[in-house]
Amino acid sequence: MKDLSMHIMDILQNSTRAKAKNITLEVSEDYSTDTLTLVFKDDGCGMSEEMVKNVINPFFTTRTTRKVGLGLPLLKQNAEMTNGSLNIISKEGEGTIVTAVFGLTHIDRPPMGDLAGTMVLTVAAHPEIHFVFHFVRSNSKRDVNYILDTTELYEALDGVSLQEPEVMNYIKEMIEENIQ
Ligand SMILES: Nc1ncnc2c1ncn2[C@@H]1O[C@H](COP(=O)(O)OP(=O)(O)OP(=O)(O)O)[C@@H](O)[C@H]1O
Ligand SMILES: [Mg+2]
Repeated sequence: MKDLSMHIMDILQNSTRAKAKNITLEVSEDYSTDTLTLVFKDDGCGMSEEMVKNVINPFFTTRTTRKVGLGLPLLKQNAEMTNGSLNIISKEGEGTIVTAVFGLTHIDRPPMGDLAGTMVLTVAAHPEIHFVFHFVRSNSKRDVNYILDTTELYEALDGVSLQEPEVMNYIKEMIEENIQ
């Protein structure tokens, strides 16, 4: 089964393929409602109403290299298995919001996997895109509220390339420290 970071990679790829200039991902773990919510927002090409309806059907895709698109249907299936849901709001020429809700402590909830690694790889692969990652955890023990904004990241890197493996690893470790 796919872990959540693999789903995240998939959905972020949809946004990059849609030619988004700005992509936001919010990951929030809320212990009071027992939910883990992923909200993806992009300003890419968007989808028509009909397309949004079709897109959660596994036999629909605009890909020409492969016949079936599976990213969104699989995410929906995995979310619903944990009593969660998938919701898509989109407007042609404006952008898309994909919201996936999982039962946080549900036995079938896929593990998060390598979220920090997924973020760094996605950012490094698309230096032209402005990403904002927001990680929120409301927990009685330790609250987390962490934002990674690539505009600030590139400023801090001051010309040092994120493509360098050591730099990538350093940023990945920084993210891990902030969200653990
Ligand atoms: N953020 C988005 N903006 C615009 N169109 C989108 C977006 N996300 C999905 N789509 C459209 O919905 C289709 C289905 O997406 P889905 O992720 O399910 O499959 P896919 O990307 O085609 O294939 P796969 O994810 O299996 O590689 C895409 O081909 C694309 O046309
Ligand atoms: Mg996809």
